[in-house]
Amino acid sequence: MAKSPGGALLSGFIIERNSRVPIYRQLDASLRRLILHGSLAPGQKLPSTRELCRELGVSRITVKSVYEQLIAEGYAQARTGAGTFVAEGLVFEAIPKFKRPRHRIRVPDIEISDRARAIMLSKATVRHGKTEPFRPGVPALDMFPIKTWNKYLLDAMTCEQRHHLSYGQLNGSSDLRGSIAKHLSDARGMQVDPEQIIITSGAQQAFVLIAFVLLNKGDVVWYENPGHIAGRDVMQIMGANIEPVPVDSEGLDIQFAIDNHPPPAIIFTTPSHQQPLGTTMSLVRRLTLLNYAHENDAWIIEDDYDSEFRYRGRPLPALSALDGERRVFYVGTFSKSMFAAIRTGYVVVPPGLVDSFAKAGSLLGHGSSAVVEQALSRFMDDGRYIEHIRKMRRVYRERRDVLFECLMNDCTDSLEPQATDAGMHIVAWLKNGMDDQVVHRALLNAGIESLPLSVYCIGPLNRSGIVLGFCCAHENRIPNLVKRMSRILKKLA
Ligand SMILES: Cc1ncc(COP(=O)(O)O)c(C=O)c1O
Repeated sequence: MAKSPGGALLSGFIIERNSRVPIYRQLDASLRRLILHGSLAPGQKLPSTRELCRELGVSRITVKSVYEQLIAEGYAQARTGAGTFVAEGLVFEAIPKFKRPRHRIRVPDIEISDRARAIMLSKATVRHGKTEPFRPGVPALDMFPIKTWNKYLLDAMTCEQRHHLSYGQLNGSSDLRGSIAKHLSDARGMQVDPEQIIITSGAQQAFVLIAFVLLNKGDVVWYENPGHIAGRDVMQIMGANIEPVPVDSEGLDIQFAIDNHPPPAIIFTTPSHQQPLGTTMSLVRRLTLLNYAHENDAWIIEDDYDSEFRYRGRPLPALSALDGERRVFYVGTFSKSMFAAIRTGYVVVPPGLVDSFAKAGSLLGHGSSAVVEQALSRFMDDGRYIEHIRKMRRVYRERRDVLFECLMNDCTDSLEPQATDAGMHIVAWLKNGMDDQVVHRALLNAGIESLPLSVYCIGPLNRSGIVLGFCCAHENRIPNLVKRMSRILKKLA
């Protein structure tokens, strides 16, 4: 039981009013048992007699006399002005502990739904857990201005702002939606009414909402292949038929999809920086895609997950900025530009769909915190967000350059790194027929992360490769890490 400044909760206590055992004895026996078994630890504060008698619905005299008895026997100690505590220094080694059953209790096989079975097959959980250098998509967390951010969080938690402690607005804070609309206009060339923005707990919740609101069982989704794992799997689990569409040097190959697949309800794409291959969709391809969607009543999901990080030239405006017909759901996240634990993202939805999205969001567990939304809005309005992005762009450019150079110097016997002008990772193509899963596991055993390209794919790979994130590895460490990589790869070749 956790220590608590207000005293232990004792929430397991039940007074049997119909029992022949007097209430006094029930309370006394329960407290002794908790102390003897260590559930109430030495030094832990007991609830005040006033609190406990109110919670249990017994008289205060009963509680007081139980406490006095425990104190008299050395189980508890009274501290003037502070309350009653479990006695310090009690050693219960001689007392038999609660015995676990010798044999594990057999639990019958638990039937899970077909949906849950499909979820168990998803590889989307690769982004969880401890982070080692080169994990794709992880920002330089040690460079995030935590002290500044904490000030914004504290401001959002002041006594005058108690309304932020509630559920907040259905679509997310109007302040934050306004800040995002300004940012999208400035950074992505999009003219968005803040009313069209729904705040989510990250891009993934936006994909869940889109699938929930728009997809019926059997609907076709054209999905980039290789492509973002978690978005693909959630749509499949919601009953969609995912049709893989290859990616060429101009982005999603629409002609291939038209020639090979039934018309889609949704097309999923990452035009700024294809996940994971890194291609930027050409303007011609963008216009073709928009025209196709308009003529065939298809929706497009534009996942703009890491467009903040472009290292050469100016970024192309978002696909959504070209969309006069409002066929695009633009999805943004703060997981890459700030940190994933912020659990905040958003989706810009076409005007007629705002209410269904907001209500679906509420039903699926309103995902973001009104306190964080408020802090983030101020952080953006004060220019802190852009300041951080600018700084990270410089840092990441350097890390990208160092990683690329080291790979070229040390690893070209076994892999061919692909140059990239944007994003947070490099794709390295494997040579000598090496299996990307084997390489991934061998590197991980040596404390180096990567992701095998095959986890992003539906069906077999044309060419095997690994994805290396350069943002979360300090530039001074990269040369040695790559040397270590090179030794491992040589052994595998
Ligand atoms: C392609 C892509 N989109 C979006 C996200 C962000 O997801 P979220 O905002 O839920 O953290 C990621 C992160 O892994 C990603 O790789």
